[in-house]
Amino acid sequence: MTPRSRRWSLFFPSLAVLFLLYLLQSPTTYPPGANIPSPILLLTAHPDDECMFFAPSVLALREIGKEVRGLCLSVGNADGLGLTRQAELARSYGVLGVEENKVKVLDHPELQDSITQAWNTSLVAQIVREYVEEHGIASIITFDQRGISSHPNHISLFHGAQLAQRTYASSQSPPSIWVLHTTGVLAKYTGYLGAIYRSDKASKGVVVYASGVREYVTALRAMKEHWSQLVWFRWLYVGWSRYMWVNELREVV
Ligand SMILES: *[C@@H]1O[C@H](CO)[C@@H](O)[C@H](O)[C@H]1NC(C)=O
Repeated sequence: MTPRSRRWSLFFPSLAVLFLLYLLQSPTTYPPGANIPSPILLLTAHPDDECMFFAPSVLALREIGKEVRGLCLSVGNADGLGLTRQAELARSYGVLGVEENKVKVLDHPELQDSITQAWNTSLVAQIVREYVEEHGIASIITFDQRGISSHPNHISLFHGAQLAQRTYASSQSPPSIWVLHTTGVLAKYTGYLGAIYRSDKASKGVVVYASGVREYVTALRAMKEHWSQLVWFRWLYVGWSRYMWVNELREVV
């Protein structure tokens, strides 16, 4: 290569990197001004779901002053670390801007962390219904029917939330339900490229929250609070996963 053509060969990659930084400098919401009514309940299965999967949503919603509450249905005791993980959850939510008194974690004998067992849908629904009534929840955010990783506990939350909505008895209208779209395997690990692609499918009933670099770093800090879980392959995950950058939430109707 001549020096001249070498210079040119660097020009386009540099341009691409600049363009990338430009796109990622600030968080974005599609459609702009999208409204998920609050108070909002983020319903998760295990401590660390909130930052591994839902950080872009939580950060965006807190940024515009929405009330977000966290309910985690297990302490994630699969490896005997239940108590540690409970404290980590509160600290992680703290980093994401959710106050400690709005975070609750359950340790129910029938709702234990298990990669092989689905949870009892009526039980999940009953817990969700009570929580919604107690705190006047207007919207629930949770997993979709594919549960990101097909984890049966995640999928149980989807079914439980829907059952809770259908059987809601209070005089107020039932909460709306927003589920996190599970992308294909390839899209799952495209990380910041996913943030740029951002799915222009943003159609009716779909809200996209894309983090900027600052929000991504905050999500990483929240992740660091879950130190008991940070084995090396999780660092690979947080480096590459699309959900650390972008959340597509779809309203279930
Ligand atoms: C599921 O939970 C409901 C409500 O707590 C309970 O009545 C029912 O017996 C449970 N079903 C199973 C199979 O455990």
